[in-house]
Parts: sequence; structure tokens; C-alpha cells
Amino acid sequence: MSDKKFFITTPIFYANAELHLGHTYTLVLSDILARYHRELGEKTFFLTGSDEHGDKIVRAAEKEGMGPQAFVNKNVAKMEALIQEIGVSNDLFIRTSDSEKHWPGAIKLWNALLEAGDIYKGVYKGLYCVGCEAFVTEKELVDGKCALHDTPPEKIEEENYFFKLSKYAPEIKRLIENGDLKITPKSRANEVVALIGGEVGDISISRPERAIPWGIPVPNDQTQLMYVWCDALSNYISALGYGSDNEENFKTFWPADVQVLGKDILRFHALLWPAFLLSAKLPLPRELLVHGFVNSGGKKMSKSLGNVLAPSEFITEYGCDALRYYLAREVSPTEDWDLTREKFKEVYNANLANGLGNLVSRTLKMSEQYFGGLVTGDAVSVPPIHFKISDTTSGEDVAGMNIPYIITNNILPRYHAHMALHEINKAADAIWELISHLDQFVADYEPFKLVKTDKKAAENVIWGLLYGLREVSQMLAPMMPNTSIRISLLVDKTSDSEGRIVFNSKVPVEPLFMRK
Ligand code: MSP
Repeated sequence: MSDKKFFITTPIFYANAELHLGHTYTLVLSDILARYHRELGEKTFFLTGSDEHGDKIVRAAEKEGMGPQAFVNKNVAKMEALIQEIGVSNDLFIRTSDSEKHWPGAIKLWNALLEAGDIYKGVYKGLYCVGCEAFVTEKELVDGKCALHDTPPEKIEEENYFFKLSKYAPEIKRLIENGDLKITPKSRANEVVALIGGEVGDISISRPERAIPWGIPVPNDQTQLMYVWCDALSNYISALGYGSDNEENFKTFWPADVQVLGKDILRFHALLWPAFLLSAKLPLPRELLVHGFVNSGGKKMSKSLGNVLAPSEFITEYGCDALRYYLAREVSPTEDWDLTREKFKEVYNANLANGLGNLVSRTLKMSEQYFGGLVTGDAVSVPPIHFKISDTTSGEDVAGMNIPYIITNNILPRYHAHMALHEINKAADAIWELISHLDQFVADYEPFKLVKTDKKAAENVIWGLLYGLREVSQMLAPMMPNTSIRISLLVDKTSDSEGRIVFNSKVPVEPLFMRK
């Protein structure tokens, strides 16, 4: 076990509807990083949860003729079921309507801002987009409508508490510029710096209780409720016990190592959240990892635009790991991408049914047929490759080296380097490069022919393939946990009395991935 800790968070999801593939992306990206850091032996805490207060929820509940609590309970139950289905390994699911676990932290944070002299009363007059749960300006509108939600904002005039955001903007700008608050990718950091370069005003952080009767009451003023973003952002510390009588987890895990979020909520996380923390004299998160949008038909997938694809559709048809594969490898985390059913099927057949699945079943069949499933050898005896490797980190020429050597000196270092930078798609590419090297290795040595002329040589080739598959299974663990376990059970690894490695393999009863 390493003595490092790793705290990773997702944004908390609005409990107004079911999670779609956009949300699933946030979850799977975070889950892959959490699992990877657990594999490294770091003390990992992975947090997700639900954002349950505010106008958006109240209105959605009314539409269904339900009270807000019953409504969010229903949606959260579905959320938690889906989170299980996609194999998300969160350590905690925090709910903002949980007055025992969440409210004390939100209240403690509010009081800290108050004590710092950063909260004052004022009148807010302006526009509010319920979809964003945010005050907006005329300038941000397109044809009088919110660009994200395609709906006109509402005019509001009310007495609220304000937070002195303007006081912290210059310092946040400095922290982002000098890298103390790291924002990945860099282009998003620049975006925030540019935003701060313009005028940053103070922001309203409460709403009158009568306007939205569903939220956390402002301490010592029951006529006001906390603004939903103020309530929601505090989940990242309330979940660790901040404000409760046991702040142990808070002391161990805060600050967050990585906070994952979509680009639509960048300014809340890169400006408002750090400002709250600075005001409360708490450390800032080490890194914000900002991902792009999953589009559908060229627009951000969202319930309000009515273009959502449900993750369960893909899970039912292809399985949980196939969906995770797609999100891990076929998407660049920091860019926007479009998902279509056709593309999904195509990559599934090419890379899972044919690529990985086929390699596993071919290798295991040969191992069973020629060696009864028991293949003994060592890394040195595996014959060298005949083909060129495109990308080497070692700078050495790997032609003439063998598969175990290439894994250790080329594939694994690249895999880890990419994972450390959260480039999960490139890390997955390294795995699939290994898979295609293993395919090429079979094509070059033809163990099915070799076995007739030189059985030991064929055994060395198959040993190399089994060795490769074990490595594939280990690297896949964060991305495709079920497949990883299945492969490692099919290819068991022991050693004989002379210390040589023995692979004891079984032919799978059915293919890992059925062709579609
Ligand atoms: N409740 C706020 C977050 C509060 S965090 C203190 C919220 N919720 S959300 O349900 O709308 O979004 C949650 C996450 O899902 C965000 O990271 C958001 O970017 C992501 N996605 C929602 N739709 C998305 C796509 N179509 N594509 C990719 N991610 C998107 O915002």
C-alpha cells in the first residue's frame, strides 16, 4: 500500500430526471481514474451523489404531481441502480436533501464565509435560467434564450444574500496562472482566466424561501434558502464529514486530488468554488479535470433538448464493459463527441468481438488443444517479434525484442504515463496496440503449424501470448473490470518447482463478446 491518498469527485447529478449517456461519461471517466489509483495502492476515496434542491427539481416534481422529497427519492433510487449497473465503484453517494450528512457541512461553510465578512444583504434584479440554476446576463443570451437550454430566462427582483466573489477573483486568476489550481486541459484554464479578466461581480447566494420552498435554510434567517450552487458545491466537503462531529475523512482526504466536471459547469468549479474555499480558509482542489460534451445529433445531449440516449440501452445490448470500453477508448476526454448506435456497433465488433475476444479464444484453444491448458516457460525464451513498433518511450529500437520485453519497456510505461495525465483513451490505445502485436505475433509464428515441427518452440510462442493476455487483463482492470477478472480467471498464473511460470488456462464456455 502506498502512503499516498487520492480523493476524486464527480459533480452531483440533478435528481430531476434519469441519468443519460452524458452523465454516464462523467461517472465512467471518474471511476476509471478511481480504480486506477486504487490499483496503484493509494488510499482512494471516490465521491459521487445527487443535487436535489432548487427550482428545477421543484418544478419537475410538480409536473409529476409529487412532493419534492418523494420525487427525488424516486429518481435517486434509479440513479443508484444505474451507478451499480455501470460498475461505478464510488465509496459514498451524498444527497443534498440529507439533513444529517450534508446540511451541517453546507451550514459550516456558510458560517465561515459570514465570519470572513464576505456575505452581505442586497437586492438582486436580473435574469435567472432555471435550467442552469444560475443568474444570467443579457450578453450571454442567444436570441433572448439560454444557449444551453434554448429557453428564455425569467426576470427576477428579490432581496438576497450576496457573496463577495469580486474580492477573490484576482487571487484565483493568479492561482490558475501559476498552476497552483491546475485546470486540465489548459484551454479551459485560459477560458477561466479570460472570464476573470473581464469584470467579476459579487453573486447572490440565497433565494427567498417563498420563491423556492425547497433547500437548506440560511443560518439565522429562515426567510432565505441557500442558493442551490452554494448548497451543492459544499457536498465535496460535507461528504467527508466537514461540519459533523467526525471530521476524520475531511482531514485525511481534503483537498481533492481530481475534481471531474463537464465544461458547462466550469465557472462554478473554477471560480465560485475556489472563492468559497479561500474565504473559508480551506485548501483548494489540486486539479479540475474538465471533459467535453456527449452530443447527439450535433447538440449537447440533454433532457431539455430531448435528444438523450439511455446507457441501459447499450448495457442490455452489449454489456456494461462494452459501454465502458467505448467511453474509455473511443472518446477523447477533453473534446466533444457524437454517439451513434452505428458507430458503437462497429467498434464493438472490430475491437471487442474480433480484437480482444477473438485473441483470447484463439490463444486459449491452442493452449488447451496442444498443451492441455498447462504452458510452462519464461520471458527469455519467447521468440522475438518481426514487426516494427510505432511508438517507443525507451528510445531503443525494439525490433528483435520479444513480447515480454516490449510490454515492460514500451507498453506499460506509456499506459501509466497516459493514466497519470488522465488520458484514458491513449492508455486504452496502448492496450489495444499490445492486442494487435499479439495478433501479429500469432500471424508471424503460426503456432498451429509450428506445433507439428517443434513443440517446444510452439509452447514458447503460446507462453508469450498468455503472458501478454495476463498483462492485458491487468491494464484493463480500471476500464473493464468484469472482463479483466474473466481473463485473469481463464489464464491463471503459477510457478513450477524450478521457478518457471506456468499458465493454467481454460477455454471460455462462451465468447467474451458475442458478435453483433
Ligand atoms: N448539479 C450540477 C452539478 C453540481 S456539482 C456541485 C449539474 N448536474 S447535471 O446533472 O446537470 O450534470 C452533472 C454532470 O454531467 C456534469 O459534469 C455535466 O457536465 C455532465 N453532463 C451532463 N450532460 C452532458 C453531456 N451531454 N455530455 C457530457 N457531460 C454532460 O450540473
